[in-house]
Formats: sequence, C-alpha cells, structure tokens
Amino acid sequence: MSGKHVELPDIAKKILVTEEQISEKVRELGSRIFADYEGTDLRLLTVLKGGSFFLADLCRAIDIPLEIDFMAVSSYADGGPGNVRITKDLSDSIDDASVIVVEDIIDTGMTLNYILSVLRGRGPRSIEVCTLLDKDVRRIVDLPIAYRGFSIPDTFVVGYGLDVNGLYRNLPYVATVAEEAMVR
Ligand code: IMP
Ligand code: MG
Repeated sequence: MSGKHVELPDIAKKILVTEEQISEKVRELGSRIFADYEGTDLRLLTVLKGGSFFLADLCRAIDIPLEIDFMAVSSYADGGPGNVRITKDLSDSIDDASVIVVEDIIDTGMTLNYILSVLRGRGPRSIEVCTLLDKDVRRIVDLPIAYRGFSIPDTFVVGYGLDVNGLYRNLPYVATVAEEAMVR
C-alpha cells in the first residue's frame, strides 16, 4: 500500500473499490480464466465504452493466446430497460469460438441478457460472462455469471470505465456518487 492521499473529484462521495483491490481481483479472475481456457480459442468481447478498461487489464492477466473484439449498444435511458439495440457490431465471427463477455457492471441484467441472446445465435462453442461489478440486488433477469469481481450495493458508481454523462471513466478506482451531483 502506498498510503498516498487520493483526491476525490467533486462528484465522488467515497471510494468503493480501490485501485489495489481492482488489480488484485483482475489477477485472480485472470488466473481462473487461464486455468479454465488453456488450450482453447479464447475470445474476449466487451461492450463499449465502459467495458474496455476492464478488458484491457483482464486480457493481460490471462497468459494464453486470445483475441478481443468490441460491440456497442444503445443506452436504455430513452426507452426503458427493454429497449436495447446494437449500434456497433463485432468485427469478427464468433462461430466455434470460446467466448467470454467481459462487463464493467451488471445492473438489471437487461442489456447483457439481450447481448447474450444475440451472441448465442451465432454458434459460439461456449459463452460465459465475466463482470467486474455486480449490483445483484437490482437484477431483473437471471443471468449465469461464471466470473464475478465484486458484489456492490444498489448505488450509482463511477470510475474504471463507468461514467456519468460521459465523464469520470478515467478514475483508477470505483467511487459512489454524491447525491447532490446526481441531478441530471
Ligand atoms: P443493465 O442493463 O441494467 O444491467 O445495465 C447495464 C449498464 O448500465 C452498464 O453496462 C452501464 O453502462 C450502466 N450502469 C448501470 N449501473 C451503473 C452505475 O452505477 N454507474 C455507471 N453506469 C451504470
Ligand atoms: Mg456497459
């Protein structure tokens, strides 16, 4: 531990998951994935933009040859959680690939549920989920999560890829958001 003082931006209330806790968890999940996927054609997929931070760290903690790919979906802010749409598709086919969908956070599960249903139709050899954060109390649809970093309470968080109005993705830790900053 460096013990160095961390300056929180105005929007953040307190650090929920520290930089050290994240890197320790990334190493732990990476070793588990390494053990489970050695010898297979592993493909890590993530949903832009938030998941790209976790994917970039996680893939370097998995010591086997692997490929990465990205997709983007529309936010459900405009039409409710059921309204998910692919705005940028994967670059490559996942036919016969061993796929892990890497997520920054799972909240209601609606977004990931939609993504999984689309991807399952494309003939992957297997498909699993790895999420850094899980707001499990908010879950609406039941999802199989093979690799889970941290279970967190029902509170809005920013940092390590997670944003509010596009900002704060670059915080190296995950922080809860101050109520007064949530007026949007
Ligand atoms: P779900 O479909 O409800 O599971 O929502 C998943 C998506 O909502 C995530 O991929 C994030 O983009 C966003 N989201 C959910 N909770 C938070 C949060 O606390 N902070 C930032 N984004 C969040
Ligand atoms: Mg996301």
